[in-house]
Amino acid sequence: MIKTRLLRMLKNGTRYVVLQVVWQWLGLIAQIIIVGCIARTLSGAYYHKLTTKQLLIYIGVVLFSVVARIIFDRLYTEASFEASVDVKSVIREKIYSKLLRLGSGYRKYVSSAQITQMMGEGVEQLEVYFGKYISQFVYALLAPFTLFLFLFQYNIKVSLVLLVAVPLIPMVIMIVMKVARKLLDKYFKIYYGLGDTFLEKLHGMTTLKIYGADGQAADEMDEESENFRRITMKVLSMQLNSTIIMDVIAYAGAAVGIGVTLNEFAAGGMKLSEAIMFLLLSAEFFLPMRLLGSYFHIGMNGMKAADKIFDFLDIKEPAHGKVVLDGKSYDIALRNTAFSYDKERVLDNININIPTGKLISIVGVSGSGKSTIAGILRRQFKGYEGSITIGGRELKDINEDSLMSAITAVSYNSFIFPGTVRDNLLLGNGKCSDKKLTNALKIMNLLEELKPLGGLDLQLKEGGSNLSGGQRQRLALARALLKNSPIYIFDESTSNIDVESEEIIMKVIRKLSKDMGKTIILISHRLANVVSSDSIFMLEAGNIVEQGTHSQLMVNKGSYAKLFTAQHRLENYAGGES
Ligand SMILES: Nc1ncnc2c1ncn2[C@@H]1O[C@H](COP(=O)(O)OP(=O)(O)OP(=O)(O)O)[C@@H](O)[C@H]1O
Ligand SMILES: [Mg+2]
Repeated sequence: MIKTRLLRMLKNGTRYVVLQVVWQWLGLIAQIIIVGCIARTLSGAYYHKLTTKQLLIYIGVVLFSVVARIIFDRLYTEASFEASVDVKSVIREKIYSKLLRLGSGYRKYVSSAQITQMMGEGVEQLEVYFGKYISQFVYALLAPFTLFLFLFQYNIKVSLVLLVAVPLIPMVIMIVMKVARKLLDKYFKIYYGLGDTFLEKLHGMTTLKIYGADGQAADEMDEESENFRRITMKVLSMQLNSTIIMDVIAYAGAAVGIGVTLNEFAAGGMKLSEAIMFLLLSAEFFLPMRLLGSYFHIGMNGMKAADKIFDFLDIKEPAHGKVVLDGKSYDIALRNTAFSYDKERVLDNININIPTGKLISIVGVSGSGKSTIAGILRRQFKGYEGSITIGGRELKDINEDSLMSAITAVSYNSFIFPGTVRDNLLLGNGKCSDKKLTNALKIMNLLEELKPLGGLDLQLKEGGSNLSGGQRQRLALARALLKNSPIYIFDESTSNIDVESEEIIMKVIRKLSKDMGKTIILISHRLANVVSSDSIFMLEAGNIVEQGTHSQLMVNKGSYAKLFTAQHRLENYAGGES
């Protein structure tokens, strides 16, 4: 019922739990003292045996114990709070660093919605589990024994009756747990599923609207939400029912205790002060267990959340190598490289040489495998066959950080974060001065356009939606320039943007290789962009069918020449029309 792994994972885990139990237990001792004083006062008053001195002592002790109790309660709350803070920061940190270790291909293992839910609600549930449930679990075992040890000296029979009745509550908990486990499994499955669907539909809202499919999507969401509502109600009613049963046991147990006490007292087996003490303390036997019962559902949720988090943390990480690139050479070489996503080969027998500082292009029809090559080089897709080396070192063996700082990829839909233009640029290189950032904007012809809107301080909306497509893409390139990595991959970086932006971007890409010695891999549908490349590789169904410079390929009159001529004609035709 307690996840020891969770305790071990936390910095001060056990310490906070022990502290919570100790403060609760000292509170109970104070309570026993208060009850003892009240019992003696009442009994003394009843038999007219109470002296003023005794009365004053009892009042003094009660006041002192009440203050002590308040202090212990407060210390308990503080320890509980510290435990919650500990669990939140430690677990979020663990999830985050696991994500980093899984690297750019993390989606293969877990969906973004699951990560969001785990980081948010999952961790919140652990907070209560850890801040309240675990200590209550230990205290609920400790309290009845403490009371028993104190009371059995007065009357062993009543003390035993009370002690024996207490385990009925955990027995109910065990039974409920069996049912609850299955129900909660189902609950979490539906809950995560709903999160996934919701996120997908939200992302695709515009598309759904364009195709008039938003109504159908809403119906599907309704159905899933209804399923979720039903399972939530089931979980809630299971929780309520079990709470009622536990209440009945707790109060019936206390009532039996009270009954036996009165019986003993009537038979003369007990003094009045002792009877009062039993009457006032009998409920205390059950209250901690009863409270554990009500935390128990939180505990179950917490344990489920912990299971999900552990499953995630236990995902086997792809073995990343340790080799750090030495920076002398960034030659890239693919030798007989093959790759399959599933069973079918998507790339076969690929041989490409890219000497440091050269610009090569990969072209081919849609689905021929261009982005797959880019993805493999960035290790977004793992498990290639044959060999791929960067600077002479096998890609598999290269350390993740070293690889990430060596390669910058700019795709057609670069991610712009909400925040200022400056925040987005600093992602490229956190150490840049405003002057350098402004210069990067200038290179991309963005400075004049963004200045009236706020320049570096312009607040960008989610996905950079308050910029035009071309501006967004030029900003992404400015960010990439600031990173100043030796290798750049541009995968359709100029797709779907205005001609002016495309020209600016292409000019900068050429400059990166010619003037700055960067190694460039350019993937483009538009063959006019690849004309000046040092070498062009034509892909067809995962095979390189032609390679050479533009003029060589044109002389060959193969697939490339045909595609180029067709595109050229089409563009001239469109240009003539306009
Ligand atoms: N994540 C994936 N899982 C399974 N198959 C994939 C995946 N990504 C791509 N494929 C398949 O691999 C093949 C090559 O895809 P790839 O994206 O490399 O093509 P591409 O040349 O970049 O095409 P495009 O010009 O349309 O971008 C296609 O048949 C595609 O269906
Ligand atoms: Mg592609």
